[in-house]
Amino acid sequence: MPVITTIADLKRLHKRRTPKMFYDYAESGSWTEQTFRENTSDFDQIKFRQRIAVDMTNRTTATQMIGQDVAMPVALAPVGLTGMQCADGEIKAARAAEKFGVPFTLSTMSICSIEDVAENTEKPFWFQVYTLKDDEFMQRLFDRARAANCSAIVITLDLQIMGQRHKDLKNGLSAPPKFTVASMANLATKWPWGIEMLQTKRRFFGNIVGHAKGVSDPSSLASWTAEAFDHALDWDRVAQLMKMWGGKVILKGILDADDARKAAELGADAIIVSNHGGRQLDGAMSSIKALPAILEAVGDKVEVHMDSGIRSGQDVLKALAMGAKGTYIGRAFVNGLGAMGEKGVTKALEVIHKELDLTMALCGRRDVKTLDRDILLVPEDFEGRWAR
Ligand code: GLV
Repeated sequence: MPVITTIADLKRLHKRRTPKMFYDYAESGSWTEQTFRENTSDFDQIKFRQRIAVDMTNRTTATQMIGQDVAMPVALAPVGLTGMQCADGEIKAARAAEKFGVPFTLSTMSICSIEDVAENTEKPFWFQVYTLKDDEFMQRLFDRARAANCSAIVITLDLQIMGQRHKDLKNGLSAPPKFTVASMANLATKWPWGIEMLQTKRRFFGNIVGHAKGVSDPSSLASWTAEAFDHALDWDRVAQLMKMWGGKVILKGILDADDARKAAELGADAIIVSNHGGRQLDGAMSSIKALPAILEAVGDKVEVHMDSGIRSGQDVLKALAMGAKGTYIGRAFVNGLGAMGEKGVTKALEVIHKELDLTMALCGRRDVKTLDRDILLVPEDFEGRWAR
């Protein structure tokens, strides 16, 4: 086993171990993937100020996200199909997150169901929903999340309609999958993955099949998905969904200050500045570039989190120093999961934690709760290059 010291190491193992169609699903953006690439390259434009001769004893990365204690402000983002990266993937990721002391967010499009994850974990997790038309199904999801003791709902607002990801189309990744000769040949080379998959009963969308009207088996899912998303979504509907849940709500997919103001007005507990990991509007701004204007608009009214582009503890530190109160990793934990299951997710969290802690120390700081922009050097035109 190679020595693993970075998320990139886990990504290499993930690619080797997991069928191409699922690896590509995780590692792609929409259309030209410009936003997907800029999410990471824009982080690289921000530099740290190296400080010396500063007391770096007694450091802490512990803080809170939406009032909940976290070992570091890095939650696991909701990621669809996580249970296809490795058997029982959502359960394994949730267990790793719980042991580490960071929030786990279960996607509606997960393989393991809400109940599966609740039965196999002890602490409350967060549950993500899309904005779907079917009120009965939404209510049922909220009821199930409540019964599973979920402590917050994350409402995804940037996927009313799905962006096109070329790799998924070419790989035949649909519900149910359309296997090509190439994908079958690739599957045959991933037999350790296959053997594990044959040993679990969880191989299809556990929150949907058997729960949504008319979806009793995998083959009926495609038509349900095409119909389910609410293309007519507006802020009244968002408010209605928040009321239906009645507990803590995090609104995800906000990239514009006007939308952030609206979300804050509705009384969200937090918002996530996000472009869905570059998987939706290709050509949109990277999350880290969008963050400052949103903080300026609503930073004193609502807790602002960010995702999209975080692959290291250095990225987390940059986002926190810019003003975010919480961050999320998606691909970084999925790389760990695809590489080594639960141990791999733990490894991903350890890698990021160590990078965050040591980099904070080298910047002369000791506490993630008191970070500010003073540790950063940000290009002068970083935020102001675009005008409407
Ligand atoms: C779903 O949210 C996806 O990005 O595939």
